[in-house]
Amino acid sequence: MSAPLAEVTFKLNGRAVTVAVEPSRTLLYVLREVLDLTGTKQSCDGEGECGACTVLLDGQAVRSCLTPVVRVAGREVTTVEGLGEPDNLHPLQQAFIDYGAVQCGYCTPGMLLSAAALLAREPAPSDEQIVEALSGNLCRCTGYVKIVHAVQAAAAELRGAPRAPRTNATRPIGGSEVRVDAVDKVTGRARYAG
Ligand code: FES
Ligand code: FES
Repeated sequence: MSAPLAEVTFKLNGRAVTVAVEPSRTLLYVLREVLDLTGTKQSCDGEGECGACTVLLDGQAVRSCLTPVVRVAGREVTTVEGLGEPDNLHPLQQAFIDYGAVQCGYCTPGMLLSAAALLAREPAPSDEQIVEALSGNLCRCTGYVKIVHAVQAAAAELRGAPRAPRTNATRPIGGSEVRVDAVDKVTGRARYAG
């Protein structure tokens, strides 16, 4: 006999949602499989190693693969879909595109949310603080230099300070198609096979 379902209500990207799921399910499972919010990714076996599943829980970056969904009852969850829209990108999303910090984009949602949590508590982080805050988010493609530059640029914009100029190392390549693809990746709309 299967376990009785737990009814869990929480705030997701600003709206109240209620799901009825087995109590052992993770927040990652509920986001992707129940609510079809596939912007939050899974890149390891759900053992907390990759950070691709990072979301904000009451403003703190957490790994949704390690978070039982029953633990988010009554709390506030933000996923990449709640960070910004294609026509209203969050400064972090815009900066990741502008500074060439997105390649395959699989790690990007988790990176963005870890960075958002950092900037909420530290509006003017050092490069070292950014590296530390993102150390649990693995990226197989992009040199972390571009990601650090992007986070610094977004931090400056959020503080109302001028952005650092882009160097050749941080200049994006490609035209409008590449940009549309990048927007899909930073907003969690990009679909990946498998
Ligand atoms: Fe890898 Fe959660 S899926 S840390
Ligand atoms: Fe491909 Fe980070 S951009 S894993």
